Amino acid sequence: MLGFDPATSFGAAVAQRYDDQPRGDETDAVAFLAGLARGRPALEFAIGTGRIALPLHAAGITVDGIELSPDMLARLRQKPGGAALSVVCGDMSRATTGHRYGVVYLVFNTIFNLLSVDDQIRCFENAARHLDADGCFVVETALPHAWIAPSAADYVHAEHVGLDAITLDVARYDPVTQLLVENHVRISAAGIQLTPIVCRLITPGEMDLMARIAGLRLLARYADWRSQPFDARSTAHVSVYGR
Ligand SMILES: C[S@@+](CC[C@H](N)C(=O)[O-])C[C@H]1O[C@@H](n2cnc3c(N)ncnc32)[C@H](O)[C@@H]1O
Repeated sequence: MLGFDPATSFGAAVAQRYDDQPRGDETDAVAFLAGLARGRPALEFAIGTGRIALPLHAAGITVDGIELSPDMLARLRQKPGGAALSVVCGDMSRATTGHRYGVVYLVFNTIFNLLSVDDQIRCFENAARHLDADGCFVVETALPHAWIAPSAADYVHAEHVGLDAITLDVARYDPVTQLLVENHVRISAAGIQLTPIVCRLITPGEMDLMARIAGLRLLARYADWRSQPFDARSTAHVSVYGR
């Protein structure tokens, strides 16, 4: 998408309504991450508005964050407990908190928000830099083939159909670059709002290779936060990497 700037995908309007419809996996994700942390501090790459970080902190784990969007960060600060978290505003593939953690985690497909193979590898390397000797890096994404049908280069998906507004997801996938270019189009009496985003879709196997480049290896892979077995029917994965 010519002129697209990833730093603008999660602007003020998105940040304000980000928590309106919870994803629903928060309790399971927090239990999984707290179990891995075993009381040690955790770092969330792309912490957003604290959807996972705030309940994890409430469960007794110190959580720091790195986040690119000042608007998402401002929203986090407004939420109860949000001002207490230490968050660096920056790019998760490069920024550092200067500390090491028992768990570094990156959830909700967000490694896809890095748009080149080099940046995605740098993200694994940055996670490794922030880990204790026996720390874990946890990555959660959908599987690319479950996200887009292999034959569907272009699609329009009705994301929300309401009386006063509709939201369409208009997308195009390029298998050469692995970039999924999307625009969320909200049409209402107030007008038309466009929210563009670009993702670089990668498979679990590619992530395993990126991890190896970063000096990590796959320790476990599940289909979801409830540690269900990862198999041929899985549509997503939760992968745990360590040294
Ligand atoms: C789908 S949201 C996920 C937020 C949060 N982790 C959650 O689970 O609700 C994606 C977040 O990634 C952030 N983000 C995108 N690219 C980033 C980057 N390179 N470095 C840090 N944060 C980034 C966005 O600003 C946004 O807050």
